[in-house]
Amino acid sequence: MGTFFGHLGRLTIIKELTAKKILMDEILYLMINLQGKRAIVFGVASEDSIAWAITQWLAKAGAKITLSYQTRFRSRVMGLIQGKDFIEGMHECDVAFDDQVRDFFNALDGKFDMIVHAIGYAPATALGKPIIYTTEEDFNTAMVISAYSLQRIVRHAMRVLNPNSSIITLTYLGAVRVVPGYRIMGVAKAALEALVRELAVNIGLAGHRINAISSGPIKTLAASHVPGFDNILEYMKHASPLRRNVTQDDVAKTALFLLSDLSSGITGQTIYVDTGFSSVALPADIDKISFG
Ligand SMILES: NC(=O)c1ccc[n+]([C@@H]2O[C@H](COP(=O)([O-])OP(=O)(O)OC[C@H]3O[C@@H](n4cnc5c(N)ncnc54)[C@H](O)[C@@H]3O)[C@@H](O)[C@H]2O)c1
Repeated sequence: MGTFFGHLGRLTIIKELTAKKILMDEILYLMINLQGKRAIVFGVASEDSIAWAITQWLAKAGAKITLSYQTRFRSRVMGLIQGKDFIEGMHECDVAFDDQVRDFFNALDGKFDMIVHAIGYAPATALGKPIIYTTEEDFNTAMVISAYSLQRIVRHAMRVLNPNSSIITLTYLGAVRVVPGYRIMGVAKAALEALVRELAVNIGLAGHRINAISSGPIKTLAASHVPGFDNILEYMKHASPLRRNVTQDDVAKTALFLLSDLSSGITGQTIYVDTGFSSVALPADIDKISFG
């Protein structure tokens, strides 16, 4: 009963704030309050990183964040976090190495409530050629960094997680359909999505949840290595139901929902944030396109 009236109280406040044109940030704070919650975010490389957008939305909701980043992006990440008091820690970590992930978690103090895995990588030699020429070594590298690293992180994270924690990872449509140029990454993302379902069963015993967000294409450092990426962005604008590309903020807002208690009954899922593209087979104006 108390909770029910508590919600009514919040709704009234939200209506009043909306009427007064109070900032969306404050309304968000009333809906998703992550004060006192702590997140670990893997995968910030630049200001365009999806992980950086998620970090900022988590901070707007009141969470404190620890970043894990790759050594090669150290100076960029240092520049980003200047003056950001919501960052409570940062450590270098290469997820290719189990001891580095173990040491990362050993260096942390206290317990955490949320983990973001926003890591993907395939060698340029694999992305540049049809998959029939992908070497065993490149295949393994893409699988370990882009898929197995999620298991590695979750395994080491278990002892620092509070009960009912939430974990998310980032995937792409190439996991379930062929996207030209995505090649070995499609195979790795398929493994990642299957891993999310498997891990959900393992960690569900402790009340933890894990989900994947399948993001539409966004211009980031990682995406710039996919051949033909600019054309993919143009086609999305044309063919997706919303007739636009997805933004980092679109993805981050869904991340916030999945990381918060608002999604308490959702686990093992892949949620599409792609301006609807995955729901259509052909562009709406197919009758007007000339192939002659
Ligand atoms: N940008 C897109 O179009 C798009 C679409 C769908 C899914 N995604 C996924 O989103 C996630 C984030 O990518 P992004 O687009 O923000 O690009 P990004 O380049 O900003 O992020 C990729 C991150 O992976 C990290 N990484 C790579 N190898 C690593 C390693 N060995 N150890 C630790 N970290 C490593 C990089 O340091 C970087 O921070 C990736 O999983 C990507 O596949 C991106």
